[in-house]
Amino acid sequence: MNETINSIKNRRSIRKYQEKQISEEALQLILEAATYAPSGSNNQSWIFTAIQNREVLQTLNRMVRHAFLEMELAENEYPAKIAAKKLAQSENYNFYYNAPTLIIASNVPNYANAMADCSCALQNIFLTAHSLGLGSCWINQLRWLNDHTGIRSYLASLGLTEERIICGASAIGFIEGNPPIVKARKENTIQVIK
Ligand SMILES: Cc1cc2nc3c(=O)[nH]c(=O)nc-3n(C[C@H](O)[C@H](O)[C@H](O)COP(=O)(O)O)c2cc1C
Repeated sequence: MNETINSIKNRRSIRKYQEKQISEEALQLILEAATYAPSGSNNQSWIFTAIQNREVLQTLNRMVRHAFLEMELAENEYPAKIAAKKLAQSENYNFYYNAPTLIIASNVPNYANAMADCSCALQNIFLTAHSLGLGSCWINQLRWLNDHTGIRSYLASLGLTEERIICGASAIGFIEGNPPIVKARKENTIQVIK
């Protein structure tokens, strides 16, 4: 099988990471790969903010935890959001699974392809990480907290300005333990018309 297909089929979302930081070379390759994703009308209006500073990540984690603890959710809210709020009850809560690197993908406001472009870029991030023997996982909490004043002003102090829309993020790091097995694909998700 060619390497691209191999990476696509074997990448998994990783939720346990070693403390060891990824190399600078790996970080640059991953960030560069993100910028090679397709974008609507070649907009390339994304910004990828990589955070590797442990104290900054831990401060962000404390803010995210408190934001979830205070969040009021309707019963019919998206289940993953309800699950995230439940997880935040634990003092050991860590929204990025203690990964040593977190990359936030943001885009300009009022741009219809903001999510689509950043999603393509995030998949490039995941596949490049996998090809380098690293684990990754989409992290959605910051997207859900896009409008949280405290978190946005903290991110702004780091250079991610408040008007930008947070579309998603990726945890990156060395995998701790065995990666999860490939999940079975659902049936009847493909149609071919000839
Ligand atoms: C839009 C989107 C949001 C996601 N958000 C999270 C998240 O916040 N936390 C998490 O652990 N995984 C998150 N995931 C990962 C999914 O749970 C995962 O892709 C799915 O269970 C399939 O597993 P796999 O990636 O190993 O194939 C997200 C994935 C997508 C595409």
